[in-house]
Amino acid sequence: MRTLLKNPLQIVTVNANGKKFKRGSEMNKIEVMTDHSIIIEDVRIQSFVPNDDINHDKIDKIIDVSDKVILPGLVECHTHTAFAGSRSEEFKLRLQGLTYEEIAKKGGGIIHTVESVRKSSFDDLLNIIKPRVEHFISQGITTLEIKSGYGLSFYDEIKLLQVINEMNKLFKINIVPTFLGAHTFPPEYNNDHEKYIDLIVDEMLPYIADHNLAKFCDGFCESTAFSGKQIERIFVAADKLGLKLKLHTDQFNSIGGLDVALKLNATSADHLEVLKDEDIIKFKTSNTAAVLLPGVSFFLDYDYAPARKLIEDDAIVALATDFNPGSSHIANLHLIMSLAALRMGMTIEETITAVTLNAAYALDLSDKTGSIEIGKSADFAIFDAEDYSEIVYSMGRNLNVMTIKDGEIIFSKSN
Ligand code: NIG
Ligand code: FE
Repeated sequence: MRTLLKNPLQIVTVNANGKKFKRGSEMNKIEVMTDHSIIIEDVRIQSFVPNDDINHDKIDKIIDVSDKVILPGLVECHTHTAFAGSRSEEFKLRLQGLTYEEIAKKGGGIIHTVESVRKSSFDDLLNIIKPRVEHFISQGITTLEIKSGYGLSFYDEIKLLQVINEMNKLFKINIVPTFLGAHTFPPEYNNDHEKYIDLIVDEMLPYIADHNLAKFCDGFCESTAFSGKQIERIFVAADKLGLKLKLHTDQFNSIGGLDVALKLNATSADHLEVLKDEDIIKFKTSNTAAVLLPGVSFFLDYDYAPARKLIEDDAIVALATDFNPGSSHIANLHLIMSLAALRMGMTIEETITAVTLNAAYALDLSDKTGSIEIGKSADFAIFDAEDYSEIVYSMGRNLNVMTIKDGEIIFSKSN
């Protein structure tokens, strides 16, 4: 089956010539093609053809994208989409002056959502999460990471991972499951934190690996959650079982998580809002991606991660929503691109690289998706725009009109 993606205004390729990521100044080079169409063979990108040289005889299907801008299918590489309940009461408290950490210390925050998730059945969760995934797809997202982390018991963490895996069957996009049992300590282990870590290491991780329920193991290294040493114990066990690693670190306090993540070659280190100057340089010689989440800084109204310094120091920078009920109740990746440009000083081109190729790299998938290169999956986001810059400029609006995954239209605005 040969499909022609015909006559776009621009093809933003984010071409990396087969490389898995763009580092530092390379992020600004996104390579825009004009006057060309794309030929898709089954599920892959087969070739680019000049518009005045198209041989229609060999084409089975035409998707007319005249006047549209094509980007690689967007990659959302850090979300907590698998949650139940609402934290709007806590949002009100924050508007009255209480901080996110103060609310967490009073037993609110993550634990509040854990209570809601524990009360929800597998089917309840499926029904809650499905429209959220559809909303991501409508933005041009073709790869979506979803973490567990609101169950915090064997039964409820596995339930969440099973829901996320079920979601991967229900939707054509690629949904990447991440185990975040080390999100915070559940109240029943308040007096014996090591016992909860035993549960993660001895029971949860082996079951997850045996049943292939997660690609990544994540953790939250923070003074209100897990220490660097505790994360290291969990990560060493996860690594032995073949899971890849990601870490929430340097969000409010810098307590040593980054060094653990780098030492164990984590695929990504995420947040980094309070990253120390002397730590920025560590990304230069590391292949660990720095996943930045400006929606958290905006939603909680505090520091932004040092994106400019990281890029100037040759880091591999990706961006994500961190969509969750507490610190970033923002399910809009385009808005995150706008925040990254306006609040962290990233160029529009850098934000595009950060939600395509580098975000795919942060999920260890950039050999298959994240750029428009011959041989890669035919994953595209089609925007109703005259220039790619409008995606970032049109704050809060969704200019995506069509999402294509593996050569198939899975969302179209006219439908
Ligand atoms: O990435 N930092 C920890 N976890 C989430 C927030 C979770 C929540 O508040 O429910 C985050 O910010
Ligand atoms: Fe997060």
